Amino acid sequence: MNKAMADTEAQVLKSPRHVAIIMDGNGRWAQSRGKPRLFGHRAGAKRVREIVRSCPDLGVKYITIFAFSTENWKRSEAEVTGLMSLFRRYIKKEARALVEEGVRVRFIGDRSRLGKKLVALMNELEEMTSHNDYVNLTIALNYGGRDELARASRRMAQDVADGALKPEGVNEETITSYLDTSILPDPDLVIRTSGEARVSNFLLWQSAYAEFEFIETLWPDFTSEVFQEVVDRFSGRDRRFGAVKPAAE
Ligand code: IPE
Ligand code: IPE
Ligand code: MG
Repeated sequence: MNKAMADTEAQVLKSPRHVAIIMDGNGRWAQSRGKPRLFGHRAGAKRVREIVRSCPDLGVKYITIFAFSTENWKRSEAEVTGLMSLFRRYIKKEARALVEEGVRVRFIGDRSRLGKKLVALMNELEEMTSHNDYVNLTIALNYGGRDELARASRRMAQDVADGALKPEGVNEETITSYLDTSILPDPDLVIRTSGEARVSNFLLWQSAYAEFEFIETLWPDFTSEVFQEVVDRFSGRDRRFGAVKPAAE
C-alpha cells in the first residue's frame, strides 16, 4: 500500500460513520439579503445534494438531516405552506439523481400530520431507492425526539397489552428497536449550523454519545469544503464512551 492509499484509509477509518445535521440559519441568510425567509429555505435545499454527494469521499455512510421539526408548525402559515411545497418539489426534482447515485433515502418523523401528496411522494422515494446502499440519507420531517419516544412508547405499551412484549423484556435495545431510526447506527457526529448551541429536539436518544460541532456558518453557506473541515476535526477527537483510556505503553 502506498502512502496516499494509507492516508486515505486512515482518514476513512477515523471518519464518522453517521453524521447528523441540524440545518439551521436559512431565515437569517435570507434576511441578511433583504429577501423573504423562503428564499433562504430554497437556497438551503440546494445545498443538500452537494453535501450528500461528498459523503463517500469523507467516509460517511449515513447522513441524517433535520428538515422540519415538530415545533416548526408554530411558524407563520405562509412559511409552513412554503416549506411543505418545497419538500414536495424537492422530492420530485431530486428523485432521479438520488436513485442513480446510489442514495438510499428514508424519512423519520410523524407522517400523520403531513399532507397526503407529500406522504405519497415520501413513500415512493423510499421505495424507489430501497435497493441502494452507497450512501444512506435520512430526512427528518415533522420529527421531534420527544415525539418519537412518545410514539415508540405507545406502540410498546400496546404490544405489552397484547401480550407480544413483556415489561421485564424492555431494555435499551427494545427502545431503540421501536424508534423511527431503528435500523440506523447512532450518529457519531452531530453538526449544527448558524451559531446556535442547542439540540432543538433532534435525535435525543440516539445522540447520547455523539460528538457535537456547533458552527457559525449559516446552512445555505455550508459547502462541501466546510463539511470536510468539520469531519476532519472529528477525526482528532478522543471518544471515551465513559471509559478510561489505557495508559500508553
Ligand atoms: C432552518 O432554518 C430550517 C428550518 C427550521 C425549516 P431557519 O428557518 O430556522 O433559519 P433561522 O434560524 O431563522 O435563521
Ligand atoms: C431546528 O431549527 C429545526 C430544523 C433545523 C429543522 P429551529 O430553527 O427550528 O430551532 P430553534 O427554534 O432555533 O431552537
Ligand atoms: Mg432556526
